[in-house]
Amino acid sequence: MSMLKSEIAPKGIEFNSADFVISDKYVTILTVVSYPRSIYVGYLSNLSSMPGVKVVIKHIPVPFSMLSKMLNKQTAALKVNYQDEKDVTIKERIRQDYESLESFIQQLAASQARIFDFQLHVVVMADTKEDLELKKTNVKSYLDAMELRAVPLRFEQEKVLKSILPIFPKQDVEDRIGTIMPSPTMAAMYPYIFDSVKDPGNSVLFGVDFSGGVVLFNQFLYQIRKEHNRNNANMVILGTSGSGKSTAAKLMVRGAIRNGYQIVAIDPEDELREMATAFGGDVIDLGKGGEFGMINPFEILLDADEEEIAQGLGYTVLTKTLQFLKGFMKYYDPSITEDVLNMFSEMVQETYQRFGIDFNTDFSKFESEKYPTFSDVYATIKGKLVTMTDLTQERDIMERLELKIRPFTKELKFYFDGYTTIKPQSDFIVFNIKELMNADVNVRNALFFNVLKYAWSLCLDTRVNTVMYVDEAHVLLSGGNVLGADFLAQIQRRARKYNTGNIIITQQPSDFTPQEVITQGKAIFDNSSYYLVMGLRKQAVEDLSLLIDLNDNEKDAIKRYSQGQGLFVCGSRRMQIDVVVTESELDSFGSGGGL
Ligand SMILES: Nc1ncnc2c1ncn2[C@@H]1O[C@H](COP(=O)(O)OP(=O)(O)O)[C@@H](O)[C@H]1O
Ligand SMILES: [Mg+2]
Repeated sequence: MSMLKSEIAPKGIEFNSADFVISDKYVTILTVVSYPRSIYVGYLSNLSSMPGVKVVIKHIPVPFSMLSKMLNKQTAALKVNYQDEKDVTIKERIRQDYESLESFIQQLAASQARIFDFQLHVVVMADTKEDLELKKTNVKSYLDAMELRAVPLRFEQEKVLKSILPIFPKQDVEDRIGTIMPSPTMAAMYPYIFDSVKDPGNSVLFGVDFSGGVVLFNQFLYQIRKEHNRNNANMVILGTSGSGKSTAAKLMVRGAIRNGYQIVAIDPEDELREMATAFGGDVIDLGKGGEFGMINPFEILLDADEEEIAQGLGYTVLTKTLQFLKGFMKYYDPSITEDVLNMFSEMVQETYQRFGIDFNTDFSKFESEKYPTFSDVYATIKGKLVTMTDLTQERDIMERLELKIRPFTKELKFYFDGYTTIKPQSDFIVFNIKELMNADVNVRNALFFNVLKYAWSLCLDTRVNTVMYVDEAHVLLSGGNVLGADFLAQIQRRARKYNTGNIIITQQPSDFTPQEVITQGKAIFDNSSYYLVMGLRKQAVEDLSLLIDLNDNEKDAIKRYSQGQGLFVCGSRRMQIDVVVTESELDSFGSGGGL
């Protein structure tokens, strides 16, 4: 019994002369004993964002007389020094010091600043003793650069620890470590960075920042102004279910409507219907069967602009289509083998030939009804099988392919087998795929990919800014489908060229990090100038930190965000924001979603 007790009890604290062990962490507290002559606003911000470092500040109001006494003493000393000094240069420096001190006193008296006893500690934490020493050296040299001198108070670590914990009474060390300073200086010390985004141009009122200031965000800022790390219009929004991702994205969509941008959305929860309908958009219901909306995977989409086609790159269009179709099959059947996949590609090409399509075809004149469908490809395969009378390896591959393709012409025909029937008329196009989110996982993934490719083909008009909205994008990364991940990464890379900004929404950063797809996963994030990281659970935060830089404080904060809160990474700037929506905005966003 007692053994159990000792095993489950906290390990306790063990104090050494210059550090201590708490539970399984090695800690030392450095106490700042001297400050630079002058500091700048947000002086401590870099220090407080160092990993494994916590900054503790204590400030105690003191009467003005205490400061004036101190200053009087200092001015008197300077005066004496001035008179005694023989060296002209040093004498002049003392005179300057004396004058600046005097004007400081005048300012103080005029502004009636409050006076504080300021105490600053830097807590350095590590997993091992060696690691602690290493970190301590790092932190110390960092502090040196900031002109701060800090030392671990020897044999007083316990007192210092107690001093920084509010549950303990005042410790005697406090009388020795404080520095008297006026409130403006102290305010400037604080690590909060009042960085905010107030973009010019077509901005969206996105929310409020930490200091309560509005965040005006222009997704396409790069078109009117250069700013570091803001050279595309792509945005990734992350967060657990219910954290407010879709709401934030809908705010962006609303801004896009107001700015006259084109909007192409993949909407897995049927949440954009009301908005689209209200603004005369198209809502296309996919996954319900051919009469609602069908996208033929074999329709060749001009995934190239006029310039590329003029350069004779038309042939790559067919190559890309074949690549896409392979990716599509891999979503449908992740276990599909390379030989079957290649055979599929061959059969597709033969079918295309039968329909008069080859590498020299001008697809821009082709109508949807001229393309083959799954039935036609299946017919090609069946035809081949009839001619293969011997039991060769080729026949074996063909048989396996036949088995894989057959369902597309039977139970899955309402999803895949038919001409493309949709003809979006507006510049607000929503693909509602709610129905297919409930389909069998592989079917769902394949369909999602099929829709994405079609949606992307609508985003290539350079004359207009387009916002492409892809919710639940992790679906595309699931199953380690490299071809699919590659497609998404390419969209991210190419969007700027077409004046398109992607808003990619996902709740599972872990889908972007498996070995097979991490290169693409990283590219998807690296090619985004903007991230909005809303509340995430611990593991998801760790996964995300493999994709974007997050410091310890940010990681901690992300775990605690409530609905509508997020870390907004805007180029090189990062800040915590509250996404603000009014009741009427929420209403206009419709009742869908929430999951
Ligand atoms: N910024 C916000 N302000 C007020 N309510 C919000 C905010 N964000 C989300 N909500 C509420 O939470 C619900 C779920 O948010 P939603 O954006 O759909 O979450 P997610 O897409 O992350 O699952 C919304 O329907 C809305 O009622
Ligand atoms: Mg959502």
